[in-house]
Amino acid sequence: MKGAKAKIGLIGAGWMGRHHACNIIKNNAAELFAVADVEEKNINRLQKETGWEGRIFTNYEALLDSEVEAVIIASPNASHEKMSVSAAKAGKHIYCEKPMAISPEGCRNVRDAVRKRGVKYLIGYHRRLNPLYQYAHQLLVDGKLGNLFMVESDYLHHIPGDWDIWSWLGKEKIAGSLFHAGSGHNVDLIRFFGGDIMEVSCMKGTFMPRKEQVETEDTAVAIFRFKNGAIGKVQFCVGPILPFQFNFRLYGTKGSVLNNKVWLDAIPRFADTGHENDFIELPATWIPDNVQGGISEPWDKLMNHFVDMLVKGTPSINDVDSAFQTSIACFAAMESARRKKSITLKEMMG
Ligand SMILES: NC(=O)c1ccc[n+]([C@@H]2O[C@H](COP(=O)([O-])OP(=O)(O)OC[C@H]3O[C@@H](n4cnc5c(N)ncnc54)[C@H](O)[C@@H]3O)[C@@H](O)[C@H]2O)c1
Repeated sequence: MKGAKAKIGLIGAGWMGRHHACNIIKNNAAELFAVADVEEKNINRLQKETGWEGRIFTNYEALLDSEVEAVIIASPNASHEKMSVSAAKAGKHIYCEKPMAISPEGCRNVRDAVRKRGVKYLIGYHRRLNPLYQYAHQLLVDGKLGNLFMVESDYLHHIPGDWDIWSWLGKEKIAGSLFHAGSGHNVDLIRFFGGDIMEVSCMKGTFMPRKEQVETEDTAVAIFRFKNGAIGKVQFCVGPILPFQFNFRLYGTKGSVLNNKVWLDAIPRFADTGHENDFIELPATWIPDNVQGGISEPWDKLMNHFVDMLVKGTPSINDVDSAFQTSIACFAAMESARRKKSITLKEMMG
């Protein structure tokens, strides 16, 4: 029906789910029709914080049986596969929080179910829409950076011990690989610039002392070879004594980008004496901080894009095939660290 709002259901009313709920409530083309959470108190908290009223469920299957046309999946990682497959089978469009699933088979199941039913899919890697990366991407597309030959991104996140997410984040059966959970963002970002990945080498370990130890890894460095020959690097650490850092560095034959600073050989000629320190400085407030939302962490923009996919038919900027490629690259990195050899994505995909 023309002008009707997209009826959206939220599964998981935790930290991320509450952000998403606020962004749907603010969007005039969408309606937060229902919320499901196994903990009713978490839905009550969402209601209290936002004033939202609507249908509530304590199991997601009942939400899928309701009139919602699309779902946002923001529950712990291990549930993403089952929920995505069930949603696709029920013909509901999907915004799924990262990671897509916690095993290569799980990701394949999601991809196949989404393709089979033809539902729309968007993975929750919001940083592609951060203005720094949009700016750098446009420079690359316009040829101003020349040929990209290396791109790097770091995820260094202390994650304070009292955050709710630690109730499950360290447990492999619920969270899967912590590298995939955290640095999936970085792998997605370097793919945004470098394209598809062919091969990965990685080292990983667990170093930071904690009350409840992380069962997978809290530190990793992965080196990627893109299909076009360029090199990528992702550095991951959960627990360092540092505020959140999400760094980005890109090197092309005509220019480089280091977070919010851009050097181009064209403006002015970098090689001319006296101009080595000339660069374009973009606002430092655009650098991701993982807290504020809005311009540096554009969860709202990605959610608005999802609503546009539903109401305007806008194609997904990060569909199920793209999400699959990012996830498989993350699994390949972990496999490389385990087997102490470089792994091709072809091997991982079987
Ligand atoms: N994109 C990002 O930047 C970003 C940031 C943080 C978290 N996340 C992702 O969001 C998801 C949730 O993380 P969080 O920080 O909000 O965690 P959280 O623990 O705060 O919230 C999870 C919620 O899911 C609910 N839940 C658990 N099992 C459920 C089930 N079977 N059905 C319905 N609800 C269920 C819990 O009760 C809780 O309310 C994770 O997958 C995480 O990776 C993404």
